[in-house]
Amino acid sequence: MSMSVDQAFERFPELGRQRLMEYTGISEHEARIQCRFHKGKKDVNEQDIKLGVAIGDIHYPYQNSTVDICKQFIGDNDVDYFLLAGDQLDLDLISSFNRRKPLLKERKRLQKTYDGFQRDILDPFNSVLRSDTKRFWLVGNHEVRANRLVEEQPVLEGMVEPENCLNLSGYEFIPENGVVTIGEMSFIHGTYYNKYHAKKNIETYGRHIFSWHVHTNQVYTMHSPVDTLPRQGVSVGCACNLNPEYMHNKPSAFVNQFLIFYLFPNGQFTYYTPTIINNRVIINGKLYEG
Ligand SMILES: [Fe+2]
Repeated sequence: MSMSVDQAFERFPELGRQRLMEYTGISEHEARIQCRFHKGKKDVNEQDIKLGVAIGDIHYPYQNSTVDICKQFIGDNDVDYFLLAGDQLDLDLISSFNRRKPLLKERKRLQKTYDGFQRDILDPFNSVLRSDTKRFWLVGNHEVRANRLVEEQPVLEGMVEPENCLNLSGYEFIPENGVVTIGEMSFIHGTYYNKYHAKKNIETYGRHIFSWHVHTNQVYTMHSPVDTLPRQGVSVGCACNLNPEYMHNKPSAFVNQFLIFYLFPNGQFTYYTPTIINNRVIINGKLYEG
């Protein structure tokens, strides 16, 4: 009997190494690897596969059409996991970098910023998510600006931090530099921004790691034993303007993206980082325009 590896597992889901060698004619070494890969594929039906969406570096109020396109995608699909991956708010109006730049803060108000974020970003996302979607709020280095303000002026404690000024009910709050792990995927806002930050992340965390923070797309794949899945560090692009004030029109590698992932019951996954160019992108064959 001769058949392909996939055919063999389809007919005999409990197939062992010896019988796989017999049916397909592959070597013992290859059969060992195939058995391990197929172990988690047994009895997976579509409803066991979970869908997740993660979006980071929105930098409200400097967001762009990426946010709207992400929301449209969520509205079209049944999303099980939703992550706001850090730097949801820019908070430039309380940044120490802008302490001596009143021109950049003219007419800006913290309360107005939080009200606007709730109205324009958070509530619209919540309205398209399922009531039981598992949600995460990751703190990025820009949210931390509120904590820096409190360190300087402790009387403001409890009055200026995003978690105290927004309605984050339903969201699991992940403090600065925290890690969310779902199956074999781990998510961080990110701290490294060196040229090879995706490599730095995978080397540091030692597992599949998805990060934001650098506003660009970068992937680094680690060497790994042949009988394990390759581990990657993936840096996902941003959802905000690509030419912020502080860049002074300097060249950048900024790119607009969000992350879509499908998670299998055994923790393995498939992911996509659609890139939005000129307010449009095609996902699953559908044109999205923001
Ligand atoms: Fe950012």
